[in-house]
Amino acid sequence: MSLELTRNFSIIAHIDHGKTTLSDRLLEFTQTISEREKQDQLLDAMDLERERGITIKSHPVSMYYPAKDGKTYQLNLLDTPGHVDFSYEVSRSLAACEGALLIVDAAQGVEAQTLANLHLANEQELTIIPVINKIDLPSADLPKVHKQLEDIVCIPAEEAIPASAKNGIGIEDILEAIVERIPAPVQPEDNKLRASVFDSVYDNFRGVVSYVRVISGSMRRGTKIKFFHTPNNYEIKEVGVFTPAMTKRDELVAGDVGYVIANMKSASDVKIGDTMTESSNPCSDPLPGFKEIQPMVFAGIYPVDTSDFEALKAAVAKLQINDAAFSFMAESSAALGFGFRCGFLGLLHMEIIQERLRREFNMDIISTYPSVIYEVSLTNGEEIIVDNPCMLPDSQAIQEIREPMVRVYIMTPGDYIGDLMKLVMDKRGEMENTETIDDLRVMLTCNLPLSEILVDFNDRLKSMTRGYGSMDYEHNGYRAAKMVKMDMLIAGEPVDAFATIVHRDKAESYGRKLATRLKEVIPQQLFVVAIQAAIGGKIIARESISAMRKNVTAKCYGGDISRKRKLLEKQKKGKAKMKAIGKVNIPQDAFIRVLKND
Ligand code: GTP
Repeated sequence: MSLELTRNFSIIAHIDHGKTTLSDRLLEFTQTISEREKQDQLLDAMDLERERGITIKSHPVSMYYPAKDGKTYQLNLLDTPGHVDFSYEVSRSLAACEGALLIVDAAQGVEAQTLANLHLANEQELTIIPVINKIDLPSADLPKVHKQLEDIVCIPAEEAIPASAKNGIGIEDILEAIVERIPAPVQPEDNKLRASVFDSVYDNFRGVVSYVRVISGSMRRGTKIKFFHTPNNYEIKEVGVFTPAMTKRDELVAGDVGYVIANMKSASDVKIGDTMTESSNPCSDPLPGFKEIQPMVFAGIYPVDTSDFEALKAAVAKLQINDAAFSFMAESSAALGFGFRCGFLGLLHMEIIQERLRREFNMDIISTYPSVIYEVSLTNGEEIIVDNPCMLPDSQAIQEIREPMVRVYIMTPGDYIGDLMKLVMDKRGEMENTETIDDLRVMLTCNLPLSEILVDFNDRLKSMTRGYGSMDYEHNGYRAAKMVKMDMLIAGEPVDAFATIVHRDKAESYGRKLATRLKEVIPQQLFVVAIQAAIGGKIIARESISAMRKNVTAKCYGGDISRKRKLLEKQKKGKAKMKAIGKVNIPQDAFIRVLKND
């Protein structure tokens, strides 16, 4: 297919505005899939994605559309993940396109996430085609959405295409607009191979499958290739396109979107955003926009049963072969035994990995509190990076700690502004901007520490706004903050699993909360046990567990012998699963109960 007849585009939408339904309609209209073949939500392939109803991985697809001008066009749709954890992948997919459909729900209007993704599309200078979906709904309000498009997104209302993905309205108009408004890929200057890798997946049988957009040159089975950011050379085994199933082709040429299988064995062999070129006749420079993916959130993952360590090791290694953005290192904890310090792109990515360990590998795991990465300047002039609270040096050795910040966009009905401002302050954030969107809604822009939105920010936002608020965020550099390491001591011994890096002003309340919770789960001992939260040598919170009487059967007044025997047996069994912290015996599941409580 010649370049003039090729269009590469992507779809930007807020969750539930109808991206998947609309994609399916486009595929049906172009007879890429027939009604009979169609299984619900075809593009969302992974089970987990289907359950949660969100798109995690991009699935490109090529379709052929006979346009009204009498020519048949090849339309390549690059689906994008809809979550900020994967915003780098979104940006690489968008970079491989010339245009994007911006879907807005006719009843809901523009949402925070729409804006964040639109921002990425504008950076790539894409042509935007606004589509107002769900016009069949009685609550659809076209004039309102038109006004929002003009006011917030700065797109003339007459450019918007009204549609109903559900009822098949507006589908042909959308296809015509793709052909007419989105420019064809630009003719390359030379004929050297340049292909941008916008995603990759791991297949158990075929190894790494790279998803590419060919910018210039061509490639086929036998072509020897290399990359700019990984060292090895590979030979291509197969190339093809997505129709939407992977379909083998003889070659991929400039303008094509397709897949490449070479002898790559692990997801880390190819980096998303890298440029693929020919080993013997390489292009001189990589395509712009490559970034090394950095994990932003870290947590320890431990087997609940310590004898499962080897199985867990095999499982995390296997997951990493699939997912280069996931990293791990062995670590050990006095409380939890042997496990791994794992790095994730964000909280959703962390949940996905934990869920896969449970489901696909049948692992019973426990994870420690998530932590972000701190930049630390030491008094000796050294700069270090700390992702594990236990690794933070003594406060005397530290000159400054900087924490990662995020810019958060919150869309909310105006009534809740006051409450939300309080929430932002409570989370150590500040407001940057308040903008009125329409009669009802306001968009707040604020700057917050990443660590503060990790755990319950979104949940609190949702409950405060009765579900009407939405949020999205982007990374916003590092900022110095009064962070300290807080230890939890049980009978004078620090317990590593509970060490955290907290803001100095929040340490007392957090320490108290944790001490109270530990008091609830640690059984009485033969002596008084102190539970303390400490910063350096200074105790900032304290609880104590009173001593118990020695005879566990003492509380059985009735003298029922079988009951006494049961209690003694239970005590014996309990001992086997005890962890000794200093002279205190604590059941392993006490730690797990505290960690799971959050
Ligand atoms: P994510 O994958 O979570 O980003 O969602 P999505 O944007 O792909 O939305 P999806 O296509 O799954 O649609 C969300 C809901 O809206 C589903 O229940 C659809 O049936 C419904 N829906 C989609 N298009 C229309 C439409 O035109 N009219 C109406 N009434 N409902 C629609």
